[in-house]
Amino acid sequence: MKTSGSPIVDIHTHVYPPSYISLLKARTSIPYVRSFPPSPSLRLVILPAEDTESTSRGRPVGAEYYDINEKIKFMDTHDIDISVISLANPWLDWVPSSEASQAAKDINDEVDAECAKFPGRLFAFATLPLSGGTDVIIAEIERLKTLKYMRGIILGTTGLGKGLDDPELIPIFKALQAANLPIFLHPHYGLPSSVWGERSNDYGHVLPLALGFPLETTIAVTRMILADVFSTVPDLQMILAHSGGTLPFLAGRIESCIEHDAHLQAEGKLGAHRKTVWEILKKNIYLDAVIYGDVGLKAAMQASGEDRIMFGTDHPFFPPLEGEGQRWKSVDTNYEAIKNARGEGSEGARLALGGNAVRVLNLST
Ligand code: URA
Ligand code: ZN
Repeated sequence: MKTSGSPIVDIHTHVYPPSYISLLKARTSIPYVRSFPPSPSLRLVILPAEDTESTSRGRPVGAEYYDINEKIKFMDTHDIDISVISLANPWLDWVPSSEASQAAKDINDEVDAECAKFPGRLFAFATLPLSGGTDVIIAEIERLKTLKYMRGIILGTTGLGKGLDDPELIPIFKALQAANLPIFLHPHYGLPSSVWGERSNDYGHVLPLALGFPLETTIAVTRMILADVFSTVPDLQMILAHSGGTLPFLAGRIESCIEHDAHLQAEGKLGAHRKTVWEILKKNIYLDAVIYGDVGLKAAMQASGEDRIMFGTDHPFFPPLEGEGQRWKSVDTNYEAIKNARGEGSEGARLALGGNAVRVLNLST
């Protein structure tokens, strides 16, 4: 879906740099990379729900996961001018505390160097050393200012281990606000396996990916709203993966439940000063367009505004099950959704395809 005017930008596209793959190959519990004899091919196992004895144990891991040249090839095949790459889940969440600082420096330097190989085509979201403690995390945020291609950070929903409504995250959110680095919020942990039932092994990855991921994001942001994070850190900017999970669809219900909550009223949390869910969606939140349908995308555009939507692919995840070298259906479905939601060549489509990303993430070269 080529348009004139502004470049096509993919803000949801992942890499596992070679050094990260080496770390995973040395591990035996998730996240890990190994072969399962008799097959010699390597599989990447990252999600708690996919670490089971079945054909759905992880996914084949090829060069598209770690070779930056494959990213460029993919971009060329799919008309993508610029990609903002991010380390894929589960980032450095699992790294022992004493190793977190160095691991984040190494990964961020490596990713920045990969961007430098293709000037103007690659930018990145950095990774934080979450297990290293507040001082280490803030030091890395400061250091990111020296890396030329970093335009924000990618974050999971667990934060320091207690979720994103943890008051101990406030200094970190303030440091990100001061550095003008948006958070790209991405799910990983899903919901407890028990909710998927006894037959979940028969259903591949569908339940955790289609429902666990979006609900995880929705819950994480709703907890931040309830903890009033967006009043304490008023200019914090978040880009939510998968069009905010279900946040645009549920915003009215969340808002209504807040307004009718006697406990919140008794605690004095319902005064006129309160930022509503709708206000937060329009002031603090950007939504990617990785939703694979115009119905969901229209909800996202209506909830946050056309000027806050950004195209993404989730590459290298969701490749075609068969056939290589062709366009990916998962990508074209997202292009199609933008076209159907706003019309080919429209201003809304131009903004979603890249105009918003270039403006918000300062990608003009
Ligand atoms: N997309 C991701 O970003 N991560 C996964 O684990 C699966 C799909
Ligand atoms: Zn993703």
